[in-house]
Amino acid sequence: MSGNMNQMPEIVVRAIPFDFSENINPVWHPGRPEWSHMVNGGSLAMPYLEPFLIKTVREALKQASDPSLKADVYGFIAQEGHHFKNHRRYNDILKQGAYPDLAEVEQEMEADFKRLQSKSLRWRCAYTAGFETMTMGITEWLIGDRRDLFKNADPSVSSLILWHMVEETEHKNVAFDLYQHLYGSYLPRAFGLIYASWHVMKFSRKAYIRMLIKDGLWHDMRSRWRLYKMIARAFANVGPALVKSLLPGYHPSKVKDPDWVIRWAQAYAGLQENEIPLLDTSDPDIPAHFAAS
Ligand SMILES: [Fe+2]
Ligand SMILES: [Fe+2]
Repeated sequence: MSGNMNQMPEIVVRAIPFDFSENINPVWHPGRPEWSHMVNGGSLAMPYLEPFLIKTVREALKQASDPSLKADVYGFIAQEGHHFKNHRRYNDILKQGAYPDLAEVEQEMEADFKRLQSKSLRWRCAYTAGFETMTMGITEWLIGDRRDLFKNADPSVSSLILWHMVEETEHKNVAFDLYQHLYGSYLPRAFGLIYASWHVMKFSRKAYIRMLIKDGLWHDMRSRWRLYKMIARAFANVGPALVKSLLPGYHPSKVKDPDWVIRWAQAYAGLQENEIPLLDTSDPDIPAHFAAS
């Protein structure tokens, strides 16, 4: 890969067997319990959200006629499949440990995604394209602010999240292009973006509230203040990307990918098969290269 920023990154399928210790601290960022649980809440949603996205594009694929788009959709399906399987392993540790009642949030998500299955394919494609577009704002934020958001944090959780963000960048165009190819109408796409962002945020929030209650922090005013500041920071970072993506004429390929993503992919290409790309979170820059294992 040349590292040329105008070149679209390839969709590379990486079956990474992340290995989470059973003794992992769910507050994986020291000193940032609220942030840790916000991310844990997002992680809990992945094994419900991502299979829904996969099912949707798989169904839409039957109507697609563009061969290169179809190839990209297969890449999307494979990447998303590995994402939620890794998240599920981490989530299982959260449930087996301190937070067994997260299973109730999972049941709610299962029922709700089943309900969404009865929506039209266009609606589900708009949800998928919308969610994927929103993710780009999160990626930009997490990678840009990685020095603060992952500094001295647990390397396995940090590496899981940042790997996920890299691959979201690699397949950022796919769901959008698929929606445009099959439907193209603006309003359902805009609605899908807003609905999907709200929908996933709602369940992530339910999950982090339960974890903060269990940790005795939910009624702690200093913790609540830190939580609200973090939520405000998320909105401040993701909001502008969302607004831009709502403009007619928007295309995800017009958004420049973070250089770090390209460097991460290059570093990963140098690993052996099944090696886990563990980042060094003790290095203040969190560079895109991996500890030798
Ligand atoms: Fe994903
Ligand atoms: Fe994705």
